[in-house]
Order: sequence, then structure tokens, then C-alpha cells
Amino acid sequence: MKALLAAAEKFGTPLYVYEEERLAAALAWWKRALPGFAAHYALKANANPALLALIRREGFCADAVSPLEVEAALRAGFLPKAITFTAHAPSSEDLAAVHASGVEITVDSLQAIERLARVAPGARVGLRVNLGIGAGHHGHVVTGGRGVKFGIPREEVADAITLVSSKGLELAGLHQHIGSGILDPKPFIDGAEALLEVAAPLARSLAFLDFGGGFGIPYRPEETALDLMALGEELGKRVNAWRGEHGGKAVMRMQPGRVLVASSGSLLTRVIEVKRSDGATFVATDTGAHHLVRPMLYGAWHAIENVSRPQAPQVQVTVTGQLCESGDVLAAERMLPLPLAGDLLAIRDAGAYGFSMASTYNLRARPAEVLLGDRGAELIRPRESPESLLG
Ligand code: LLP
Repeated sequence: MKALLAAAEKFGTPLYVYEEERLAAALAWWKRALPGFAAHYALKANANPALLALIRREGFCADAVSPLEVEAALRAGFLPKAITFTAHAPSSEDLAAVHASGVEITVDSLQAIERLARVAPGARVGLRVNLGIGAGHHGHVVTGGRGVKFGIPREEVADAITLVSSKGLELAGLHQHIGSGILDPKPFIDGAEALLEVAAPLARSLAFLDFGGGFGIPYRPEETALDLMALGEELGKRVNAWRGEHGGKAVMRMQPGRVLVASSGSLLTRVIEVKRSDGATFVATDTGAHHLVRPMLYGAWHAIENVSRPQAPQVQVTVTGQLCESGDVLAAERMLPLPLAGDLLAIRDAGAYGFSMASTYNLRARPAEVLLGDRGAELIRPRESPESLLG
């Protein structure tokens, strides 16, 4: 807590702070649980260069969904062959740029196969499939099953494979990502079984099978963490049986994002004022949905601590942001040690899809980012300059 107060003093608020020890613990946990899978960290969760460097040093590969994410991964030292590209609806320009950087591409439609064949003749390609299995903490992040835009539907997979060869491309592997923020092991197991089944006849020719990401974390105290160890064992058993039966040398991959970085990050914010209105107590802060959109977008729940006054009497408050929208609520009807103007609050588990989804709405600059590690507090991204917002 002292370190958070000191960081806020030194760098100002709002401020994203990442604790290196927590990040290291999550990375180690993952490696213990799923040693049989190459882990491609999904940059979309958080692409801060300093965090990327730490993640790479722990032996992780990377997954990118835009040419700039590929560039960020390359700059952080990931080799092109350690990067996957699994964008939805990449343009021909995107495909050409990513192919030119030496990164292998996975596409998720027949039209994208054709676009790729035009800009990268003879390329190796992965196919993202939708085998009817989807899950997620909110409808917005369910990416498999009926009615979603992602992937090649099961009934078109055979046609897609034929198209790959008729266009002169080489099929490298199959990929599936069922959704995000999943705390139940069952959809992962169902998804893996479905992918293994579809891949069975191709086992000897595929270079990879990619089971995607989606591993949730418990944001609320009453939620139970996903048992990654047990899940790793279950998936490992199925993969080993599949290899035994069908052979081949396919590398097994996953694309974890949130589970690696979420709990290492906090968004620090100062209370500007505390206002009573219509029987409610509104705690107005110097941040909001422009810096952490998850509560507004998904009704997501993030723990909030009063860092300045942890012992104050608990009261029910609604923590709000600065945006000119009444939906800009960071926590509704939450019990907190009564905050006063000037207090520092820490919004927890904000390391994933926090800064990476931040915007400059209302012409507010995006926060600075700081890494708390052995060397103390290190600025790893300066606060966005107001000038760049006016240009
Ligand atoms: N791979 C692919 C192809 C994905 O689309 C995603 C996430 C991941 C991997 C990583 O998923 P993770 O392990 O982080 O769940 N903004 C939302 C989450 C959106 C996830 C989108 N795709 C949120 O804040 O909950």
C-alpha cells in the first residue's frame, strides 16, 4: 500500500501500476499448469513494452491481432516465428504487412484465404474454426457458437481446407478461441475435444493446433479461480491420447491474455469530491470509463480499495468517473471505507483490458503506466501529452 501511495505521489493520478511480483507469479503458475502447450500471450490484454519484455523473458510466445501488435511484439524481442497473427477480417494491406514481417497468419473466413493467396502466394496459413462451442463472462466476448462473427463454421471447414490448397497455400494448423473470462473448465475441455476431432484426419500434416485463450480470473471475492492445474492435466490427457492414436508432430498452442496480466495491475485514482444526491453517495474520481471501460461495457466488477484510509468506517457508495455520461460508474452501491476528497483509490485486477482499451474520450489524456519491481517504481509509459490530443 505504501508503494501505491508513493507511486501516486511521484507520478500523479490517474495511474496504471503493475506489480512485477504478481506478474511473475501468474507466469510461473501458467508454466507449471500447462507445460505441454506453447503459450502465445495475447497482446490485446496489455501491450506495454516493459511487460512484453518480462513475458518474453519467461519463455512465452506472442499472439497479435493487428499489424501494430505484431510490430510491438517484434520490438519487444519476440522472433517472427514465435508470433501468431489471428486477426478477424484483416485487410489485404494487413495481411501483406504481417506476411512481410515473417509472421505466420491464421485467417477466419474463406474470403480471407483468397485475400491472403493474392498478397502472399504460397504462404503457410492457419484456419480459425468455429465448432459450435462458446463461453464468456459477457455476451460481448463469446466468440464461438451460433450467431458470432468469428471463425469458419464447422460445415465449411472441409471447403476451406480445399480452398487453401487450390489457392496454392499450405495448411499449417487449426485454431479455435471460444471466448473470454471463462471460469468453468468444461467449455475448454469440450472445445479441445471438438478441435482434436476435426483435426484427427489431418494429424500427420499439421504443424500446430491452437486452443486459443479465454482463461478467466476471479474478480469478485465469491468467485473461485479456474483450477489451471486440473485443466492442464485434463487437456494433456486428451492431447496425449490423440497423439498416440493419430500421430504427427503438431505443436499444441494456447493464447492466454487476461490470466497472465490482470491481477498484476491496478488503476490508481484520486477522489475529487464526495457528493450526496437523492439518498446516494457518489464518490467522484479523476478517472472513469475512458481509462477502464470494463464496468461500463460489460457491467464488470473490480475490487476497489481505499488506499489512503483503509480503516475508515464502511459506507455504501457509488464510485463514478469524470466522463459526461451517467453510465460512467466504476462501482455501483459498493461498501468502501468512506473516501474523502484527495483519498487514493486502487481499482484492482486492471492489468488486462484496462490501458489497452483506454481512450481519449472527453479529451482526457490516457494515464501513465508504472512498474513496481525490485528496482522500485519505474515509469514504463509516460502520461499521454495533452498536445497529442489537440493535433
Ligand atoms: N486469442 C484470441 C483470438 C482472442 O480473441 C482473445 C481475446 C485471446 C486470445 C485472449 O483472451 P483472454 O485469455 O485474455 O481471455 N475486453 C474483454 C476481453 C476481450 C477478449 C477478446 N479476445 C474484457 O475486458 O473482458
